Amino acid sequence: MKLAIITGASAGIGRATALRFLEEGFDVINISRRSAHHESIRDLSCDLSSAASRQAIAADLIAAVDSADEVCLIHNACRMAKDNVFACDPADLAITLAVNIEAPNQINQWLLPIMPAGSSVIYVSSTLGEKAVAGAFSYVTSKHANIGMMRATCQDLQGKGIHTCSVCPGFTDTEMLRTHVGNDTQVLQAIAAMNTFGRMIAPEEIAATLTWAHHNPVINGSVLHANLGQIES
Ligand SMILES: NC(=O)c1ccc[n+]([C@@H]2O[C@H](COP(=O)([O-])OP(=O)(O)OC[C@H]3O[C@@H](n4cnc5c(N)ncnc54)[C@H](OP(=O)(O)O)[C@@H]3O)[C@@H](O)[C@H]2O)c1
Repeated sequence: MKLAIITGASAGIGRATALRFLEEGFDVINISRRSAHHESIRDLSCDLSSAASRQAIAADLIAAVDSADEVCLIHNACRMAKDNVFACDPADLAITLAVNIEAPNQINQWLLPIMPAGSSVIYVSSTLGEKAVAGAFSYVTSKHANIGMMRATCQDLQGKGIHTCSVCPGFTDTEMLRTHVGNDTQVLQAIAAMNTFGRMIAPEEIAATLTWAHHNPVINGSVLHANLGQIES
């Protein structure tokens, strides 16, 4: 049995990726607070910011991986707050780091030791994993850490036959992006103009990149830019 485990498959990029893996014949598990609302996607309800909530799904996750021949684990769920270096409440930063960094680490501890050769662990980072913009302090910090985690994962997985990479989406038309810009049409148009194709990325395009990454171990350790050619100013 081929199994895809995706955090945050209730919406956006994660959900599009879950649908794509279903088309390929994988069993799919979604880890998020809301349901993926799909009869073929198994929901493991979890608030990834909570250690207790994560612990509550551990046994189910381990049992699923134990019976799989091939696993693609995608760390996709993410919290994005509006903050900056002058105003970043430590308690709020801790919640962002819990979802974006602690949770992938915790799930790795449970699953990587039992994932068979031929599996992969893929991190969804961002263009903000390698550069910064103002007003996204905790997000930028966690997305840089996410790439560091992938690189360290790659080195520590030596000899296991499991590959890893980071996929860094550009502006993708999802709930997270629309919420962040307040659903403002003019801002969305300005954002769309910030890549060389002059449009937003569809979640399905990132889903295609993520599934491709699973099938191509040669990219082990890579940071893949999936942004339609971000225009640098
Ligand atoms: N959209 C973009 O322009 C863009 C650009 C660069 C990178 N990315 C990255 O792509 C990934 C997916 O983003 P998206 O745009 O698809 O966002 P989205 O549509 O808002 O989806 C975010 C997902 O994360 C889950 N999530 C958030 N907090 C959670 C928590 N505490 N516990 C469990 N699950 C949680 C949500 O599920 P529940 O709410 O159901 O819990 C949801 O399924 C993120 O890592 C993001 O940083 C997106």
